[in-house]
Amino acid sequence: MMNVKSTNIPVLFYLSDENYITGEELSGKLGFSRVAVWKQVQKLKKLGYHISADARKGYRVISRPDILLPAEIQNNLHTKYIGKRIYYYDRVNSTNSVAKNVIKNQKIHLPEGTVIVTDMQTAGRGRLGRIWYSPHGGIWLTIVLFPNLEPAYLSKITLMTAVVLVRSIKSLYDIPVHIKWPNDLLIEKKKLCGILSEMTAESDRINYVLVGIGVNANIRRENFPEDIREQSTSLQEILGELISRIRLVQVMLENFEKYYDKLKKKQFKPILKEWKENTDTLGKKITIESAGQTIAGEAVDITPEGALILRKENGKSVHVLSGTVR
Ligand code: BTN
Repeated sequence: MMNVKSTNIPVLFYLSDENYITGEELSGKLGFSRVAVWKQVQKLKKLGYHISADARKGYRVISRPDILLPAEIQNNLHTKYIGKRIYYYDRVNSTNSVAKNVIKNQKIHLPEGTVIVTDMQTAGRGRLGRIWYSPHGGIWLTIVLFPNLEPAYLSKITLMTAVVLVRSIKSLYDIPVHIKWPNDLLIEKKKLCGILSEMTAESDRINYVLVGIGVNANIRRENFPEDIREQSTSLQEILGELISRIRLVQVMLENFEKYYDKLKKKQFKPILKEWKENTDTLGKKITIESAGQTIAGEAVDITPEGALILRKENGKSVHVLSGTVR
């Protein structure tokens, strides 16, 4: 498939599923020639849109593919700045890497809330240098932020994102999803979503943050590689049907803005409270691998900084900021 890096199939903003619109009207609204309009319609057809074209009545959408095109996401998206600019790739190495390169090269100025989204990653990255399997059907996106906050806020942004994902998923589907510290979303102990936050910072101020979000949405169980099949799941597998990725992305972006606005005002307490209400890590005896060490104990609480408090067998408590729960 061609690589449409696009916000630019503008006819999508006017094509409707209910009513026909003539080529003439479209070209009037968009300020393009009729031929340019026709070309855009051809492009959409190539992407999998079924469009009825009637010589007299004009164009009408019969069905849409589940592709994360910016115009589809932005249609009825109720946000002020998150997702107001979206770059879409049908395939890319990693949305976090793309965002990082664009910022580094400074070719385009990215406003806060810019989203990079793709249908498939060829080199998706997970936490701790792991590979993140990102086939067609998932949601792979990065939100670019320029918060005026101290670097210690990175872990708060990540915890916040986990809360945003749980909220969004629960508001659309009736499924038992939990947060596993620090920021995995699991269903019945199997991984559904992952978050990879990256930043650059001065000693006292964040420069930029990239919040990478991966959701196993429409992925069939047998399509997961064997080595992760047992510990992975997808919305399609749990629900037994395909979900609308576009709808989920919209809800995620709307919730993200709501929570991030709170965080920027340093109102982290209610977010942490919601995190605790949705985790299944606290209260359990666990083993954590952190910086080459293995620590066992009971997960008793989480600090306002996002560190896990582990009470060891000998009664002593330790704070762990990052690691993997085994
Ligand atoms: C993890 O649980 O290890 C984090 C996985 C994060 C995956 C997302 S997909 C979009 C973004 N781009 C990447 O390369 N990774 C993140």
